[in-house]
Amino acid sequence: MTSPSRSGVFSTAPDRRVDAFTASVDVDRRLYVHDIAGSIAHAQMLADVGLLTGQECCQLVEALTAIQQELADGTLPLRAELEDIHMHIEQALIERLGEVGRKLHTGRSRNDQVSTALRLWIRDALDRVDQRLVALQRALVTRCDRDADIILPAYTHLQRAQPVLAAHYWLAYCEKFERDRQRLADARRRVNACPLGTAAVAGTSLPVDRENVARRLGFETLVANSLDASSDRDFVLEPLFVLAVIACHLSTWAEEWILWSTAEFGFLKLPQQFCTGSSIMPQKVNPDVLELTRGRSARVLGDLQTALVLVKGLPLAYNRDLQEDKRPVFDAFDTVEACLELAEPLVRETELETDVLRSRLDQGYLDATTLMEYLTQRGVAQRRAHHAVGELVRQALEQGVALAELPLAAFQHLDPKVDDTVYAVLGATNAVAAFVSAGSTAPSQVARQVQRWKRQLGLHDD
Ligand code: ARG
Repeated sequence: MTSPSRSGVFSTAPDRRVDAFTASVDVDRRLYVHDIAGSIAHAQMLADVGLLTGQECCQLVEALTAIQQELADGTLPLRAELEDIHMHIEQALIERLGEVGRKLHTGRSRNDQVSTALRLWIRDALDRVDQRLVALQRALVTRCDRDADIILPAYTHLQRAQPVLAAHYWLAYCEKFERDRQRLADARRRVNACPLGTAAVAGTSLPVDRENVARRLGFETLVANSLDASSDRDFVLEPLFVLAVIACHLSTWAEEWILWSTAEFGFLKLPQQFCTGSSIMPQKVNPDVLELTRGRSARVLGDLQTALVLVKGLPLAYNRDLQEDKRPVFDAFDTVEACLELAEPLVRETELETDVLRSRLDQGYLDATTLMEYLTQRGVAQRRAHHAVGELVRQALEQGVALAELPLAAFQHLDPKVDDTVYAVLGATNAVAAFVSAGSTAPSQVARQVQRWKRQLGLHDD
């Protein structure tokens, strides 16, 4: 069987190796639902403008619906010589409907057809990722109440820096995923433009009604320029970029929890149902889900890179290279969706090791900044206070004590105006309470943010 795309201009059959080399159906078969949706809308528009009769349109819609079912059931055989899923569907129509089947491609080309199907597929996939991000945000916000009494050391340079409320930590990720959601929504606007009816590259001399098709498919706008429509893959690049950023966020989180789950940190205990064992070391409980979340982010970044390089040197308009865009798109969405699917229960079900965290809060002089600012508030120049507290930390280190364990005289040595109110900013709990600035870990600030997130995510206080 030769592809319907091989016109009378050919006098020989294609070399079989060419069929195998050029086929994409193994990958693009996943577009069948969206291709058929595009074809049904196209047929209905053709009937509306009189390029098909009402009856022809009904026949096409009915046959397309049946073909969709067969593809879902896996009963429609797929063959390399039919190249892609689009030709399979068209060929099946022709086998069933004869001349009427041969009319579906009126006023369109595979260039606008493929772009339409892929845009529809991506639009749905963006919505799925968005829903998963919301589910993850809900899990994060739910932790805020549960871990209300927990203080974590915040790190910079992976060195203990300042104390933060656990809720502040959970909300930090909420913010990152919120920006991801905004990026998804923004990318979606440009994905949601209809190329159908721009045909191969210059448009068509047939009186197609592009608005009609776009409306039927729920597109917000039309791609304005046929030459652009035929060549554009921004609608692939932008979602891949957003997915790459999500993958980076997930990878950061995974890396952090891999560290936190070690005996050295001991900050959390991963639920065993999300861990795997070792084939030789019986004692091992390994964080493989997190490691693969971190590892697979590499694939998503690679997918973005693949797509960028793919389009970089192409002259306008359609070039067959573009067929290669689907693999990275599917891979990136599959990967990110799979990671998000496990991130949510991991966030819900992992326990922070409260006792370990509490017992180590005195380590690392997390309260040095609030002590410095205490002095600053009493008129000591910031740089002088910074230096003096550093010296005090050095002394405390030598004595192996916390700042709060030093006698008042040690502080008065820095500045005679210091009185015993200094102890109110020392120790992790006091230090956290001392923060006041907007966006800081100040308990009142965090409480406000938790409320905002609950409202935003439709979560209610229980
Ligand atoms: N399988 C191809 C793709 O997905 C179809 C494009 C056909 N267009 C063409 N001019 N050969 O990109």
